[in-house]
Order: sequence, then structure tokens, then C-alpha cells
Amino acid sequence: MSAPINGTEGYAQEAPELFARYENIPAPEAHRAVLHFIPPAPADLLDIGAGTGRDAAWFAEMGHRVIAVEPVEAMRLGAMKLHPSPGIEWLDDSLPDLTRLRRRGRTFDLVMLTAVWMHLDAAERARAMPYLAALVANPGRIIMTLRHGPVPPGRRMFEVSAEETIALAEREGLRPTPIANRPSIQRENRANGVSWTTLSLVKV
Ligand SMILES: C[S@@+](CC[C@H](N)C(=O)[O-])C[C@H]1O[C@@H](n2cnc3c(N)ncnc32)[C@H](O)[C@@H]1O
Repeated sequence: MSAPINGTEGYAQEAPELFARYENIPAPEAHRAVLHFIPPAPADLLDIGAGTGRDAAWFAEMGHRVIAVEPVEAMRLGAMKLHPSPGIEWLDDSLPDLTRLRRRGRTFDLVMLTAVWMHLDAAERARAMPYLAALVANPGRIIMTLRHGPVPPGRRMFEVSAEETIALAEREGLRPTPIANRPSIQRENRANGVSWTTLSLVKV
């Protein structure tokens, strides 16, 4: 058996429970702070670490063309079954290198990294940022959420500051703006003190 992709530890084992948990949060509620940044349809959207496909399906329903990157087979196949949509192309690929995706030479109007950046260590984050910047169209934007709080057992996560992310983004010609800081909308995580920072990174 091949080694798991860094960051995906625990996801395959917990997939059934995670489908119930993530799908219970309506996408517009999860992205309340950034609804105004979603471009008019049809646009090219990329969702990295797409999980159960909740957001990819929401974007596709709006009329966007979506590529959903998800390295965990149990999540990806489950998501494809739950949200069958001609508007979504699912791709087995992973951060930091996004090798298969980058081979396509595409750019995207909006790149979403929702609850995924904390799965990379500092070296992986520094490696991934230039690749992410190159995937953004001009004009275009990345929306990223940063997790703060205790790490659940069995997961690989790191505390990531807005300051570090802003410095990495600026180096790649992205203009960062912190959008929101708020407690987790998942009840259990909120009770455990988990909070999130949302950042917008615009290509300039
Ligand atoms: C907390 S979930 C968030 C899922 C979805 N974005 C959402 O907001 O509901 C994190 C997702 O990132 C994926 N992931 C973990 N490590 C990754 C990596 N190195 N590259 C890409 N995705 C990764 C996991 O498999 C999981 O689906």
C-alpha cells in the first residue's frame, strides 16, 4: 500500500462521518463572508481539498465550470456519487505540488482552499504558494481559510498564522486582505475553541 498523501491522515477512515458532518453545513452559510467575491457565472473555479463536494456542487449549480481536487479516494468517489454534475470535473491530485493539475496549464477566476491549508507544514506551504499564484487568472482571486485551535487526534494539522500566509502571498504578487475571523460553525469544534481566519488573495 502506498503512503498516504501528507495532510490526508484520518480522512479515509472517517469518511462516512465526515460526509454527514460537512454536508450538514449549507455552502452559503460556510462562505457567508465571501459571497460577494464569487464571480458571475459562468467562470472557471478550482476547489482544492474539495472533500464531500458540497462547495463544488454549489458552484456548479450556479453555472460555473468547476475542477474539484481531492486526493482521498473515499472522499472523492463518495462526493462524485453524492453530487453527480456535468459541471464538476474531479481530479485525484494533492498539495503542495498539484502535479496533475498544473500539467494542464490552466488558470482559474477563483481558487478555493477551504479548511485545507492547515494540513501542510511550513515547507509545504512555502512550496505550494507559487504554484497557487500561477493557477490564478489575472484578474482572479484565491479564498483561503486558516484554522486556529486544537488538532483532533489522528489528523495532521499545523497552526498557520495570517501573517505568514500574507508574507508568502505577497512574495508571489498576490494582494492579501483578511476578510473575517470567526468561531467554527461546527458545534463540536466551536466548543473546543476552533476558529477560522478567511483571507482573500488577489492577483495584481
Ligand atoms: C477539512 S476538509 C475540508 C473539505 C472541504 N473543503 C470543505 O470545506 O468541506 C480538508 C480536505 O482537504 C483534503 N486534503 C488533505 N490534505 C490534502 C493535500 N495535501 N492536498 C489536497 N487536499 C488535501 C482532505 O482529504 C479533505 O477532503
